[in-house]
Amino acid sequence: MSTVVVIGAQWGDEGKGKVTDFLAEKADMVVRYMGGNNAGHTVVVEDREFKMHLIPSGILYPDKMCIIGSGVVIDPAVLLKELESLEKQGISTANLRISQRAHVIFPYHQKLDQVEEERKGNNKIGTTCRGIGPAYTDKSARVGIRVIDLLDAEEFPALLEANIKSKNQILTEVYNGKSLDYGEVLNNFKGYAEALRKYVCDTSILVNDAVQQGQNIVFEGAQGTLLDLDHGTYPYVTSSHPTAAAACLGAGIGPTRIGRVIGVAKAYTTRVGEGPFPTELNDDTGALIRKQGGEYGTTTGRPRRCGWYDGVVGRYAVRINGLDYLAITKLDVLSGLETVRICTGYNYRGEVINEFPASLKVLNECVPVYEDFPGWSEDITKARKLEDLPVQARRYLDRISEISGAPIALIGVGSRRAQTILTADLYN
Ligand code: IMP
Repeated sequence: MSTVVVIGAQWGDEGKGKVTDFLAEKADMVVRYMGGNNAGHTVVVEDREFKMHLIPSGILYPDKMCIIGSGVVIDPAVLLKELESLEKQGISTANLRISQRAHVIFPYHQKLDQVEEERKGNNKIGTTCRGIGPAYTDKSARVGIRVIDLLDAEEFPALLEANIKSKNQILTEVYNGKSLDYGEVLNNFKGYAEALRKYVCDTSILVNDAVQQGQNIVFEGAQGTLLDLDHGTYPYVTSSHPTAAAACLGAGIGPTRIGRVIGVAKAYTTRVGEGPFPTELNDDTGALIRKQGGEYGTTTGRPRRCGWYDGVVGRYAVRINGLDYLAITKLDVLSGLETVRICTGYNYRGEVINEFPASLKVLNECVPVYEDFPGWSEDITKARKLEDLPVQARRYLDRISEISGAPIALIGVGSRRAQTILTADLYN
């Protein structure tokens, strides 16, 4: 298997946690390489449900090294809560390692996220308000505080003081808000530093050593291709790179070390937050998909917007990420629908376009061109091989693969580990 990158091929929430968890079974190491606690992965093992925001889902196996790489932004309070909750459930966290170079989210990042969203009013992005954007902004502005700085008892107070001073000025003078108390934040974060210290190291060395030794490594993406800062529906995106290329930066390895890239997509499409979504269904079918698919955010609980599978998005994700395979999740959610649809292109002012446009103005005018397929009424949650699926479902999957331009390696027919159909040898 060597090195596999798992990314979201839509707007996030595609079920990457399930696919990663599945691959992790044969992996030696699982690496989370970007994003922060804006992400939420739900993994169901037997009858137990685990919701994780920062820690790679590989932690559920006792023998996998789990890495939080330098591309991740870390809210220490959230991470510590997650560690505590896992330990309480009898899951050992001894195999977790955190990059010294990852940036830290502070309370001023969350505050700025909130007030910025409020200021934008109708043009708000619909962020998770977890401080992700402001933390990455500080990283780019070269005023961020990294984990290694947080652990440095001599350097940290001055770094924090300078940041709190400038952020308080913005919060009070620009936004008429309250200022943060330096002493309180300092004390809290000194405590977090001590609790996290034992997990922190130069994770790039660990990952490169594992590559050298030919170990099996899964790089676990967060969010999705259309939320990418460069390639997503800008500005309605997250502030990092959910695309495959980011695995190298966020883990500290070179591009020559990546063996395979798998894009995860739902058998339909969802989106949380604002921004364009051409195949969105604002009708009973959309509501039915939301209900059947339990489409509510893991992190914020917000109802997800639902729509048909978008082949233009699929094709775009294949191109931007160089996908070797697609993994199609939640096929069972579509059972019972009389007709299922796939968007094959967009009609823009009378012309059909096949490539995802950069302009939101154009995208907002795009009307999906659909191909209709007869649905299936059978319960497919017990299907374990392709032949167990109704012929209509297989035809639907074939067309998704054809239009998107990548073979399908894995099909999800339920949330449990076992409810998976493998259609290619993912491990070789
Ligand atoms: P932020 O990442 O909190 O700044 O939010 C920016 C946009 O990305 C918003 O539309 C969020 O709803 C969306 N977003 C962030 N993380 C996720 C995720 O894990 N799944 C789906 N959408 C996400």
